[in-house]
Amino acid sequence: MYLNELWYFGALSQQLQPGKHLHLELLGQPILLGRGFDGQVFALRDICPHRGILLSSGKLVQNKDATEVECPYHGWRFGTGGKCVAIPSLTKEQQKTKDLSKISTKNFAVHEQQGLIWIYQGEKLPDQLPDRLDFVGDATPKVHTKTVFNCYVDHAVIGLMDPAHIAFIHRQWWWRTEKSMHEKAKKFGPVERGFSMLPHVPSSNSFLYKLLGARPETEIRFQLPGIRVEYVRIGKKYVVGFTAVTPVNDQQTQITIALYWDHPVMSLVPNTLLRKAVDTFVGQDRDAVNAQQKGLAYDPKLMLIHDADVQAKWYFALKKAWNTAQENNTPFQNPVRAKTLKWRS
Ligand code: FES
Ligand SMILES: [Fe+2]
Repeated sequence: MYLNELWYFGALSQQLQPGKHLHLELLGQPILLGRGFDGQVFALRDICPHRGILLSSGKLVQNKDATEVECPYHGWRFGTGGKCVAIPSLTKEQQKTKDLSKISTKNFAVHEQQGLIWIYQGEKLPDQLPDRLDFVGDATPKVHTKTVFNCYVDHAVIGLMDPAHIAFIHRQWWWRTEKSMHEKAKKFGPVERGFSMLPHVPSSNSFLYKLLGARPETEIRFQLPGIRVEYVRIGKKYVVGFTAVTPVNDQQTQITIALYWDHPVMSLVPNTLLRKAVDTFVGQDRDAVNAQQKGLAYDPKLMLIHDADVQAKWYFALKKAWNTAQENNTPFQNPVRAKTLKWRS
């Protein structure tokens, strides 16, 4: 049901100090995400193979150069690769006959870059690293925020990309007003595992863009499994807004937003105010999606209409193409074709 053989956003680097770990749920599975004493991140299925307690309720311990996860229940220890390395209850004699390496909890491939920790989901080994954000180099986000939508991932993804809701759900003085609604035509094209609203000079009806000064150029990219990145270039400077839509389970989806910039105007705005603005914005989406659940509980037939819902159609087409490629072990064929979409917002 979830897309496989993909990197999913797991957590922000700054959430995880060396020697610390956290529990998260990803695609309905419990995961222990840890950072060893050497600084390396790792991810394990968060279940002790002995008696099933969450390993994350235990702690990380340092054993010479190695980092080990110690189960709080009977003290079994696991390496960061998931293999059992110690069972304290075994006598010296019993230890000789028991092959601990046969006991393990699943290990997930992880990769950390640009302040983001990615966790691979799939049966195979990843054949490439997660996509890097353009422009930001090795910078880490200056502002970030998380929220959970009480819905299945698809509603969160299409709720965030849909342009027609903006003038209604996000009607606020500093962003859009009812009067500012007008017809738009935007060029789109395929990108790897997704599509892009190609670089363009954004709507003049947004106060925030005006604040940035000289002709900003914006590109918005969406890529499976649920990564949306808004790139704003103002001369040589950038503002990058990263949004990860990560399925927690069938009823919950986590939205993480991280902002990167080197544009000086952004630094004039206090980070707390920026975070508040982002929280207001995402909070409006969350409230809409959560309210939508009350209607969806009756399993109504839904519709997607041209052109405002074409991106949602592309999302479903991309998912289908991805699953087909995985099932048949064939190369993924991007179903998106270059097109200008028109709508009022
Ligand atoms: S449940 Fe983990 S060691 Fe027993
Ligand atoms: Fe929205």
